[in-house]
Amino acid sequence: MCGIVAVVGKNQAYKYVLEGLKRLEYRGYDSSGIAYFSEKKLNHVKSVGKLNKLIKKISLLDIEPLNKSSLAMGHTRWATHGKVDLNNTHPIISNNKVAVVHNGIIENYKFLKNNLLLDGYAFNSLTDTEVIPHMFYKYLKAGKSFLESGRLILKLLEGAFAFLAISNDNKNEIFVSRKTSPLVIGMGDGFHVVGSDAQSISHMVDKVIYLEDGDYALISDLEVKIFNEKDENVNRRTINVNIDHGLISKEGYRHFMEKEIFEQPSVLINTISSLINENNEIVLDLEKIGIQINKGITICAAGTSYYAAMVGKYWIEKLSGISVNVDLASEYRYRSPVTSSFSSMLVISQSGESIDTLMAMREGKKSNLKTCAIVNVDQSTIDREADHTIYTRVGPEIGVASTKSFTSQLIVLLMLALKLAKKLNKINMKQYLKFVDDIKVLPSTLSKILKLNDKVIDVSQKIKNAKNVLFLGRGNLYPIALEGALKLKEISYIHAEGFAAGEMKHGPIALIEEDLPVIMFLTSDGLEDKAISNLQEAISRGANTILISDKKCINKSQFFTSKIEIPSFDKDFNSIFAPIFMAIPAQLLAYHIARERGTDVDQPRNLAKSVTVE
Ligand code: F6R
Repeated sequence: MCGIVAVVGKNQAYKYVLEGLKRLEYRGYDSSGIAYFSEKKLNHVKSVGKLNKLIKKISLLDIEPLNKSSLAMGHTRWATHGKVDLNNTHPIISNNKVAVVHNGIIENYKFLKNNLLLDGYAFNSLTDTEVIPHMFYKYLKAGKSFLESGRLILKLLEGAFAFLAISNDNKNEIFVSRKTSPLVIGMGDGFHVVGSDAQSISHMVDKVIYLEDGDYALISDLEVKIFNEKDENVNRRTINVNIDHGLISKEGYRHFMEKEIFEQPSVLINTISSLINENNEIVLDLEKIGIQINKGITICAAGTSYYAAMVGKYWIEKLSGISVNVDLASEYRYRSPVTSSFSSMLVISQSGESIDTLMAMREGKKSNLKTCAIVNVDQSTIDREADHTIYTRVGPEIGVASTKSFTSQLIVLLMLALKLAKKLNKINMKQYLKFVDDIKVLPSTLSKILKLNDKVIDVSQKIKNAKNVLFLGRGNLYPIALEGALKLKEISYIHAEGFAAGEMKHGPIALIEEDLPVIMFLTSDGLEDKAISNLQEAISRGANTILISDKKCINKSQFFTSKIEIPSFDKDFNSIFAPIFMAIPAQLLAYHIARERGTDVDQPRNLAKSVTVE
């Protein structure tokens, strides 16, 4: 999703801005641009496509004035209003005087635009953003100060956004504002910077201030003046950021997604060791999470994180008997949920910035639920607003498709289920310790599963040209079927659907035809024979059936076209763990099919890493 970086008070500001934009590339974007002052004029360069195109355009400019320019502001745009073209690419300029970069959506822009049209302003883009520079121009022309203009504009804007503005009259100042969309100010020595996240500015500063919701600020080389929604001048806490300098590298892998799949055994050690202490206790604080044993838990999330929530429901209900409601965050916030039987809301989000999940959490708070976030990104908006946070600690996930975050979210949810089961005496000490031991050896089991890579490549060769693929699973593997289908469609662009195996005959079976790939996840949970019989109709209609299963089930039927056997870590394969294990071949399969088809695996078309607009 869109990214913002700006620098004031540092020569060659544009270079630092471009480096910052590179660090935001993982969010996904389809055009980019920068604005800067040189030779007393407001200049801008824009380009459609990847950042290297913008960098190339800039390299053709007269470099001396550019090098002297100490204020620059850049943006990567992920199109929402208006197609991907230069006119709609930010910065959006008014009368060669004001430039604005903006993330999020101005919901009432049509109304504002109509008023500006009546005032004689011409619109060059189809963006919602363009109303902002025009309004700045209008107020500045009427004699208002830069700060006062920004303040007046904020009173008129509705929506969730962050924007930055610069003006020809104020060449050493940036007006900055945030409402819901994140923005962070970096504190340098004799200069200041602004970015969409701390990672985007950590090559310049290690001290940052997170603006709070509704804050706006006027930033110059030497000063940062912050105001809250009530226009009061406020101080916000400066915190040290500890983020690796330099770009995160692929470490020899072809794509970040490949690296992130293969690093799961090592990074999940962080997740596990942060939640199990030396006495084998799971260090989750049920009180802080807000769990009351006579009440249920409601979970909200989006996309892959939502599928983790579905597995979490299965585990918590099965192991502890506590009732769990799971909602898509985008639905929860608008569906007037009845919350009286719940004490706490869990929200799950890798980025901690998904707007739907954030809004669902705010709804939860309004209904007096205690909120607990399971997030990967420290200091993200959801982290900062939740009553309590559990971190997944798997490091930055750069590939747009979630992989290591999914398995880490599953591990946190499984530990929560176990903690509750122990507290409610639903499992005895021996069973509990066995689970803890099994969780501790999960990373080495995942390493064994990753050795199936070649086998998965063979299977991917057989389905890479398919037009449609079905994924099936039952019980706790139903969400894995959904996740397998999501992963495949988002990076390979093959149409894929996930179904509960038992649902086949209620409709999806109509899709079965000769050679249609049907992938089934199966584990020995007592339902395996039913699941196989659900597939019998597909087998007899000539579908290309692929079984991904544990040792006990793999020979249940000889009719599958291909089989992938998941190695067990235990002679009694515990089907509770199956979703974590089966996620790996699902990820590998999607990855290899997409790679074979030559798609942009790390930044698939139309997708963004943090979905900060509705
Ligand atoms: C799929 C994927 C998305 C995200 C979803 C939620 O591979 O990555 O479906 O899971 O956008 O994102 P977070 O977890 O950051 O809230």
